[in-house]
Amino acid sequence: MKSAAEVIAKDLDLLSLQLRAEFARLADRSVLIAGGAGFLGYYLVQGALHWNRTHPTHSPIRVIVLDNFIRGVPAWMTALDQAPNLRLLKHDITQPLPAALGDVDYIIHAASIASPIYYRRFPIETMDANVNGLRFLLEYCRSQKEKRKPVEGVLFYSSSEIYGDPAPDSIPTPETYHGNVSCTGPRACYDESKRYGETLCVNFARQHGLPIKVARPFNNYGPGLKITDGRVIPDFARNVLDGKDIVMLSDGSAKRTFCYVADAVAGYYKILVKGRTGEAYNIGVETPEISMAELADRAVVLGRELFGYTGKIVRQQSADEDYLVDNPSRRCPVITKARTELGYDPQVSIEEGLRRSLIWYSGNRDASEA
Ligand SMILES: NC(=O)c1ccc[n+]([C@@H]2O[C@H](COP(=O)([O-])OP(=O)(O)OC[C@H]3O[C@@H](n4cnc5c(N)ncnc54)[C@H](O)[C@@H]3O)[C@@H](O)[C@H]2O)c1
Repeated sequence: MKSAAEVIAKDLDLLSLQLRAEFARLADRSVLIAGGAGFLGYYLVQGALHWNRTHPTHSPIRVIVLDNFIRGVPAWMTALDQAPNLRLLKHDITQPLPAALGDVDYIIHAASIASPIYYRRFPIETMDANVNGLRFLLEYCRSQKEKRKPVEGVLFYSSSEIYGDPAPDSIPTPETYHGNVSCTGPRACYDESKRYGETLCVNFARQHGLPIKVARPFNNYGPGLKITDGRVIPDFARNVLDGKDIVMLSDGSAKRTFCYVADAVAGYYKILVKGRTGEAYNIGVETPEISMAELADRAVVLGRELFGYTGKIVRQQSADEDYLVDNPSRRCPVITKARTELGYDPQVSIEEGLRRSLIWYSGNRDASEA
């Protein structure tokens, strides 16, 4: 693969393959994707539209994106402006849903700031999206059920952050781990609103018999993640593509497993369609667990191979004094539940995923800010 277009084409084919049964279930249904203009929206939206294009004998999946486009309408979405079976609605999820929404069959709630540097800057907005925004969507489901137009599935995006900084004997972390989280620290606006969001989901599911499921993503990366997002892989990619040294803002010892976005999005659609009501599923990869220092080394090596990069790794202190506060030293999931119950089966290795990401960023540097 040599170009961003080839990377996307390959990923969309992988999604169609992994989601044969799930996309067939969504055919002739409408899927509302709140936050669909964001990173995960990139393949959530394009994956469904690609399946429509490549399965012309099926009735199409109708995608509705609801987003406040707080950072503008991204270029990839503007390019889809006239795409069939796609509706774009500008709306702030913290406000009552627009009357024009009509009846919807499936709902994905991915509308939340996800990048730590941004949610620390907008903590109240982050909490509102995950609590009040979620509440509006759940109340909509309740009223649709009363109107005998029931929603068939709801997916709420929680986060691996709900586990906080897990005790060493709870890493890798299964869904049954209860968490070790500060309720007042600089990350709490995110972690605690995701935790409360999960509680809302479980209780709406139980009390009103609604098909609500929860995803706990572990460090997704890849195409669609803006180069200016402030997460570690786009930061390193920007350094490489600018021909500058890679700047490490920590001692490099924190470890993560990184899940390529096409694999993750396959997992999310599987939860939406097949996940058990009121249940949460970890979505990520179990291995390899790599340190930030090792990740930087890999970026240097790949940069050299792909673009003749000659930079090195340098250490700096972040200007943001909260940058490392409550940052877990290790984060790694157990994904047995999603594997066995849903057939979730991540395929793309970290080497291949980083390669695809760098190639994608090389073709998407100007699209950094929407
Ligand atoms: N990407 C990951 O690795 C990861 C990890 C854990 C959890 N998540 C969760 O997954 C979801 C999607 O994450 P992402 O990485 O795509 O984030 P993102 O920031 O790239 O995209 C979020 C989208 O939501 C929109 N949005 C934010 N607030 C809104 C509001 N009030 N009303 C309407 N739209 C709003 C933004 O405009 C953006 O398009 C989020 O809930 C996030 O917390 C992601």
